Amino acid sequence: MLFSKLNMPMTTVSGKGEIFSLLSGTAAFGNGLIVHGSSLRKKPQFKQLTAAFKRKSYFYPYEGGEPTLENVREVIEYAKRKKSLWIGGIGGGSVMDLAKAAAGLYKTSRDPEYYQNGGVVEKKGIPFVAVPTTAGSGAEATINAVINNEKTNEKLSIRDDYFMADLIILDPDLMIGITPTIVAQSGLDAITQAIESFISNGANWYTQNLALKGFELLIHNIECLFDAANQKEDSASYEKMLLGSYLTGIAFTNSRLGVIHGLAHSLGAIYKQPHGLVCALCLVPALEINKNSISEQYKKLSDIAGMDLINRINLLIEKFEIQNVFKNLELKDPKKMIANTLASGSTKANPKTITEEDVRSVLKRLF
Ligand SMILES: [Fe+2]
Repeated sequence: MLFSKLNMPMTTVSGKGEIFSLLSGTAAFGNGLIVHGSSLRKKPQFKQLTAAFKRKSYFYPYEGGEPTLENVREVIEYAKRKKSLWIGGIGGGSVMDLAKAAAGLYKTSRDPEYYQNGGVVEKKGIPFVAVPTTAGSGAEATINAVINNEKTNEKLSIRDDYFMADLIILDPDLMIGITPTIVAQSGLDAITQAIESFISNGANWYTQNLALKGFELLIHNIECLFDAANQKEDSASYEKMLLGSYLTGIAFTNSRLGVIHGLAHSLGAIYKQPHGLVCALCLVPALEINKNSISEQYKKLSDIAGMDLINRINLLIEKFEIQNVFKNLELKDPKKMIANTLASGSTKANPKTITEEDVRSVLKRLF
């Protein structure tokens, strides 16, 4: 076996109702700050959690949207004011990335923008605790936080091994109440991540096995979860999707992704469309570009999916009624869009070397 390396989260706890182990799981850290999305406040667990922490830890509501550098500065400042010794994120990928960046940069000496521009994080921050409420970005298990730079309008990662979570809680009960739209978008993001991680240039034995298991869980449960969310019912698919997304997160944070994420970050920064939706729209055109370079892996993924991979994805897009939101829009500054996509670390990990023509052909399909 070739040399393989795997960076993993410290502790992961999973199961129904496990959100309440947040209290015991963080006891050794001291008092903390919990960044959470607006949906948590409406859940019955929120009242119990705030009562359990009894002002020992603080809750910080984040109204959503992709976090900006200013949001990161604000959370760090608030956490310092409250003397927080750990920072948690309970929510979707944006909430977890905001909390992750704040915890990771808590002890650094310079502005977050410096680290977004490639500055080296000098020392480990304070512990980061991740609790996903969607499945999923996989952000609970990654070492990067995707942050918008409001000055340059670029969506870039702040990345460091120190950012890996100290504690992850996977509680499917927190997903109950999720909308079918979020299931479709975040689930297709996770499926894209599983595929890109599996075929990535940076893949190794560990990441490929994790990505394949993640893909199997995701592709076999996404429709079930979509139906359960539609009917507002409980289902075993909540837990399976959560686990699939988590395994995929560990896989891709070690292997990197591919051209779909290169494109999604460039498009997402300009058009402000949900990340999962952009990935879903780029998935088939990008697979068509890659297909000839990855015939063996493509067959393996198709075998797991139970049919040709592209046909399976097209069926999901049809069932979820995913519309091309770019169809009637004008492509703004295509030169910059292409340059940003080609410069992206994700695009560089794509198995086929991506050319300007490849990016142009995907954009032509969208716009
Ligand atoms: Fe993604």
